[in-house]
Amino acid sequence: MKNIKIAIDGPAAAGKSTVAQLVAKQLNFVYIDTGAMYRAVTVYCLWNDIDCRDEQKVASVLDNINITLYPDHSISLNDRDVTKEIRSTIVNENVSYIAANKEVRYFLVKQQRKIAENVSVVMDGRDIGTYVLPNADVKIFQIASVDTRAKRRYLENIQKGIPCSLESITKELEKRDYIDSHRELAPLKKADDAISLDTSNMTIEEVVNAIMDIIYRKVGNVHA
Ligand code: CDP
Repeated sequence: MKNIKIAIDGPAAAGKSTVAQLVAKQLNFVYIDTGAMYRAVTVYCLWNDIDCRDEQKVASVLDNINITLYPDHSISLNDRDVTKEIRSTIVNENVSYIAANKEVRYFLVKQQRKIAENVSVVMDGRDIGTYVLPNADVKIFQIASVDTRAKRRYLENIQKGIPCSLESITKELEKRDYIDSHRELAPLKKADDAISLDTSNMTIEEVVNAIMDIIYRKVGNVHA
């Protein structure tokens, strides 16, 4: 059977990764969290006291960065498990600068395309349908109001024991959305052939079911 590519894009904290993981599990496809890869590059720079806005300096260390995504959704950076560290507040504050760096994008997009080459995938990010996998079989653009997204991220952090305030999360999301949508290379934007899904008033289960319906309608029963 042909390998199927499913792209799920959208703004920060729209619930893409939770939903994409569940969809991948139902279909038995590989799940690729591209945001985690930008986060890992950010962690590397923070470890090495590199200013994440210094484009040339960041570009010059990319060859030292080795990222591995595992089937259990953990991630390692140069053989160190950074699954928790990539979600820290300091990473949230810096990741959009890293993601706006063209050299970082070329470096990671090459790896993302390679992973997707020989398997069926569900890949989530900002630019999957527009840039990483422009020929994806199904493209979803998942949105939600900034208030909903901030509340979701707030509850997620509280559950994980990460101290935060709703106000600071709202500000951080707005800032990240702005940088992600205004960068030069592959900005956050709906692909012309993507289907928009506003999840503001939907539960996770409803979103997963809606996406599964879209997949079945577009490509039939593609369970791997
Ligand atoms: O989970 P959340 O929506 O907060 O973010 P994420 O998906 O982990 O992505 C973190 C950051 O990486 C985003 O704010 C983007 O700046 C960047 N990113 C990107 O530019 N392109 C992607 N394909 C994925 C993430």
